[in-house]
Amino acid sequence: MSKVIFVTGAGRGLGTDIAREALATGHQVVATGRRPEEVEKTLGGPQDNLLATKLDITSPEDAQAAAQAAVDRFGRIDVLINNAGNLFTGYFEEISPAQMRQQFETNLFGPMNVTRAILPLMRRQRAGHIITITSTVGLVGMEFTSAYAVSKFAEEGWMESLHYDVEPYNIHTTVVEPGYFRTELLVDGSTTWPELSIDDYAPRTALRIEGMKSMNGRQPGDPAKLARALLTIADQDKPLQRFVAGADAIEAAQTKAKELLAQAEASRELGGSLAYNDTQA
Ligand SMILES: NC(=O)c1ccc[n+]([C@@H]2O[C@H](COP(=O)([O-])OP(=O)(O)OC[C@H]3O[C@@H](n4cnc5c(N)ncnc54)[C@H](OP(=O)(O)O)[C@@H]3O)[C@@H](O)[C@H]2O)c1
Repeated sequence: MSKVIFVTGAGRGLGTDIAREALATGHQVVATGRRPEEVEKTLGGPQDNLLATKLDITSPEDAQAAAQAAVDRFGRIDVLINNAGNLFTGYFEEISPAQMRQQFETNLFGPMNVTRAILPLMRRQRAGHIITITSTVGLVGMEFTSAYAVSKFAEEGWMESLHYDVEPYNIHTTVVEPGYFRTELLVDGSTTWPELSIDDYAPRTALRIEGMKSMNGRQPGDPAKLARALLTIADQDKPLQRFVAGADAIEAAQTKAKELLAQAEASRELGGSLAYNDTQA
């Protein structure tokens, strides 16, 4: 069934694959980006089923205008895919407070701006589906990744809670944790290196930067296949609430789940009986 699919960050990387795949499978697509002309060009130029419109996700005004443009053109929005994001790297002490805030502006407050603009419409429709791309690093903390991880963990918590808020209005949520996919995330336009430099960390920082740069172009995941999987989920009557995407991501999530179970169990003796003893006279 043809749906109206609204995608953020559609001009490059995974967002382009999602928009392409959605168009190829007959959906109506609102492909958004900071440079809408580039988005439209990348997707093959003007088409009846395509609206390319400006949306810098850090701007609530852009989000409202893009949502309105989508409704003016297609009358509704069935699926929102919060895809746009970027990556601030570094050891915690080398990431400036301003960089930490910038990371949150894009990876947390950005999707919130867009979702806030679209939810009133989905509630009126009594139907909708919000898909948010977080990361394996939204489940598992990693060295040199504290800013990105904290923004993606926050996005996870928001999405898990939002699920309960909007479920009564027939609005579904799916949170997606990809592993490493071969997009443009590890290039300079998407990755920001740490602003500060501390001698203790310097050799490790240099090694990490070299390692991440050399991984660019060699990530195992194919974003076109991920895009196809996401559109399958968008078509499900009862969509997956969580989609762990890629063999590397599944392994990481399973390891984390086992660790959590073991840590909860190990906490039982000390943490399992901390309640008031209200029954004592
Ligand atoms: N690739 C991976 O290995 C991987 C793994 C886990 C999670 N993810 C997540 O997957 C999502 C897509 O990333 P990707 O891998 O496709 O990276 P990408 O190739 O770097 O693409 C990022 C996209 O986000 C857009 N964007 C960034 N800031 C924006 C803003 N303020 N407003 C609007 N658009 C903005 C970029 O647009 P511009 O062209 O305007 O910069 C670009 O279209 C991100 O949320 C990322 O965190 C990726």
